[in-house]
Amino acid sequence: MTENTLTITDNRTGSTYEIPVQNDTIRAIDLRQIRIHEDDFGMMSYDPAYTNTASCSSRITFVDGEKGVLRYRGYPIEQLAEQSTFLEVAYLLIYGELPNKEQLEYWQERVMHHTFLHQNLSKMMESFRYDAHPMGMLIGTLAAMSTLHPDAKDVHNEKSREKQVWRLLGKLPTVAAFAYRRRIGRPYNYPNSSLNYTANLLYMMDYMNQDDYEVNPILSRALDVLFILHADHEQNCSTAVMRGIGSSLADPYTAMAGAAAALYGPLHGGANEAVLRMLNQIAAVENIPGYIEKVKAGEFRLMGFGHRVYKNYDPRARIIKKVADDVLSVTGGNPLLDIALELEGIALKDEYFVSRRLYPNVDFYSGIIYQAMGFPVDMFPVLFALGRAPGWLSQWLELIDDTEQRIARPRQVYLGQEERDYSPLTQRG
Ligand code: ACO
Repeated sequence: MTENTLTITDNRTGSTYEIPVQNDTIRAIDLRQIRIHEDDFGMMSYDPAYTNTASCSSRITFVDGEKGVLRYRGYPIEQLAEQSTFLEVAYLLIYGELPNKEQLEYWQERVMHHTFLHQNLSKMMESFRYDAHPMGMLIGTLAAMSTLHPDAKDVHNEKSREKQVWRLLGKLPTVAAFAYRRRIGRPYNYPNSSLNYTANLLYMMDYMNQDDYEVNPILSRALDVLFILHADHEQNCSTAVMRGIGSSLADPYTAMAGAAAALYGPLHGGANEAVLRMLNQIAAVENIPGYIEKVKAGEFRLMGFGHRVYKNYDPRARIIKKVADDVLSVTGGNPLLDIALELEGIALKDEYFVSRRLYPNVDFYSGIIYQAMGFPVDMFPVLFALGRAPGWLSQWLELIDDTEQRIARPRQVYLGQEERDYSPLTQRG
């Protein structure tokens, strides 16, 4: 008969411990009973970068990195990307079920109703330097939003939480578009809530008073699909930050400013920007073999390759290739795509990448698509943040309702000095 326990023998003492196992997991706190002396602190597990530690239980997103599977609330990403819209997926992530027609209409109306920014906020955005990175503007503006919505501090009030979700999803595209327009010295376009979510974003970024202006539906749909693909990815770096800050009961604007800051890093949301720089640096297909040799020599990494969780083809990368075809059919070919395809083909056959199970991730192609659509490179992580926002929010909502959670506070293994006496400056060698 199998038992759902783990038996641990401490060879230092010969003591044996029975530790319960649930969901293939032991509770780290159960290790604390393992000690040599009565007054020892007890055993901990050491896990830098949380490579094998679950910090929460969640019902939102399922990832099987070995098989290349991604599901939101049980629905395969392929079906959602094919048949759903970004706002519908946002509803699914946040409420747990797909909306019916009335629920979806109400939800869309609520989000689009909250697209306007407080004048103080748009004036504050004016104070960024002319060449400020839009991601820095997004992070700063998100933090400033908390000062305008003090009701958001009432994180245990369900109605208040819902309102902040509408506001955050509604206002983020406006902040992104204002950051972009400010950067290029053009006047802001105010939101047009008769358009869908991504069409409104493209309108706010592009419109220049043309009489015949229309958002290209293929491009707004492509953006919608990219946002769906980025909408959640369980406990990734930025989501862990959102939960970490949320665990101190900070308001969601402040928590999301922190999550966006985590996303800014080149190993996370900055990767698609880095992919594009890399493809530009390679410049021509014939330079690829030399470039790959340098990667294998450890000089630098192949950006857009590898993933902490996916040790198989990232399922989002498959879908994104098709989006790239749709976008390029509107915008015309892109020489970087030829380099990317060739690079991928060579890397997938190379022993270095095969043995380390390094496959293209979602960012390998997203940068090429964004560039073809005319977005400047430094807007890429901002677009990623817009797509990831419903994931951050749904994870934050789940955290607030989780009675097992407390303020996040990891432990450390102390390797520093033993206690010693302070020596006055005159006596130090
Ligand atoms: N190019 C070359 N070698 C790589 C790459 C890469 N992109 N990624 C990992 N490796 C190698 C490492 O050098 C290491 O080799 P070694 O065992 O000989 O030392 C081995 O593969 C394992 O690498 P780790 O760093 O342990 O993998 P980890 O899971 O910590 O890193 C990460 C994952 C950060 C995504 C990494 O693959 C990477 O830096 N990729 C490039 C950046 C990127 O594309 N990031 C986007 C991630 S997706 C997202 O945020 C949406």
